[in-house]
Formats: sequence, C-alpha cells, structure tokens
Amino acid sequence: MMNEYNSGERDSVSRLPLSSKLSSRLQTITHIDTQAIRDCGYQIIRNFGTNVDELEQVFDHISRSQLYYSDRIGSICHQYSVELSSGNFSQQMRTGGFHTDFMFQEHPPEYIALLCLETDPKHPIYGRNQIISMSALLDRLNAGFGLSVEELLIRQLPYHFANGQHFSVPLLHKNNGHLQFKFHQYLVTNSMEESAVRDKEIDTYLAQLHAAMIDVSEDVCLDAGDLLVLSNHHALHRRSECSVSFDSETKIWRSRKMATIRFNL
Ligand SMILES: [Fe+2]
Repeated sequence: MMNEYNSGERDSVSRLPLSSKLSSRLQTITHIDTQAIRDCGYQIIRNFGTNVDELEQVFDHISRSQLYYSDRIGSICHQYSVELSSGNFSQQMRTGGFHTDFMFQEHPPEYIALLCLETDPKHPIYGRNQIISMSALLDRLNAGFGLSVEELLIRQLPYHFANGQHFSVPLLHKNNGHLQFKFHQYLVTNSMEESAVRDKEIDTYLAQLHAAMIDVSEDVCLDAGDLLVLSNHHALHRRSECSVSFDSETKIWRSRKMATIRFNL
C-alpha cells in the first residue's frame, strides 16, 4: 500500500552540464533528490542565492522547460511579501492552511521551489514553512482514526465558492497508479453559509485531518538564499505565522519575501 507512491521510476535528476553558463554559485544545485522528496515531502538546498532570474534559469533547465505558468499570477516566477493587510493567502500574516497549489487544476504541478529572499523580522520563530509528507499523514490517520487509504480516496470534501460554484474533492487521488493529494484547508467548507445545517460526519472528518496534519507536520527554517523544493503531489504545505517590522531609519516595513516556481520533471 505505502509503496504505491514510493515506486517512482525516476530516482534522481542532475541536469546542470559542466558547460553551463550559469554562475558557479548555482552549481550548488546539482541534484534534485526526487526519491527523498517523494519520501519526506521536501529537499532543502542551502545558499542557493537570491537571484530570481537565476532561479528561473536553473529550474527551466532542470525541468526541461516544464515550468508552470499561472494565468492568475500572470508569470512563471511569483514573488510576494507578507503584508499588513492582504486578501491573498500567501501574503497574510496569519498562519496559512495546509494545501496543494492549484488543486482545482486537472493536473496540478508536481513540484514547488520556494526561495527565501528575505527572512521574517522575527526569524527563525516566525515565517517558517511547514510540510506534511504523505507517508507520515497516512500512517497517522490510520493509526489514530482507522482511516484507510481506500477510505481517503472516496470520502468527499466540500468546497463552496462565493460565485456559487461547488466542488467535492477527496483528500487523495490516484494518478497513473500513484497517490496524490488535493486539498486546501482554508477553502474546504462544510456548508455554504454558517447558518446552514452542518454535516457532523464532515466536521468530524475535518477535525481528524487537522489533528493528524498538525501532529506530523515538519517545520523548516529558511535563511535568505535558501531554497526549499517540495512535492506538490506527495506533500501538503503551509506558512507559519509571520510578522512585520517598521524600520524607523528607512521608514519602510520589513517582512518575509519569497519567490516561487512550480515545475514538472
Ligand atoms: Fe502554496
């Protein structure tokens, strides 16, 4: 059962040629360990650097130009900062919900590269990344609540949107025989309106999922220039609470700043 998503045919990727024109600093990224990412959910590459153009060049090369373009974001590389007030989940100070990026796409991107450009003012306590590996979550859901993979594949979670659209999506899916997550903790809702009758079974299921997720999630602290490569299929991720700080000398607010690229291999 657990081997289904561990039995990938692609063990590792090392695609930077010696003749690469990229700076020697980028030679630090010579090995995307897809097996480790599949097993643990992520890989950290320290001291990658903060050049966003180089980030895009490196991952364009590694992915053989399979970078993910988002119409919503309007670019391949998404740069964002935590803001005092924002409607965008990725820019808010509050803790994010565990999620899959672009979960409603038929084929969400396989991997996410997150580059820390500036740390949180209260780093390393605030502004962390938190990751849940599939194996850890499936083990905990089974041990704690008796939830089997087969059950997770069929139990629907409701997503309602303000425009009236409604989707029912299970936590787990099978894609070409491999399990993958599709989930967004802040978008999943038990009812369209708070006043509506809530489904107690779904409430219980959501509580079990959240309890297991917070129990097995791992914290990652990125310094400026550190790169986190995540599985978007075999892991869920979120951002911990963030802070902002007003610099009285420069008269500007300081906050965590990140760059993100999604890609397939
Ligand atoms: Fe995300």
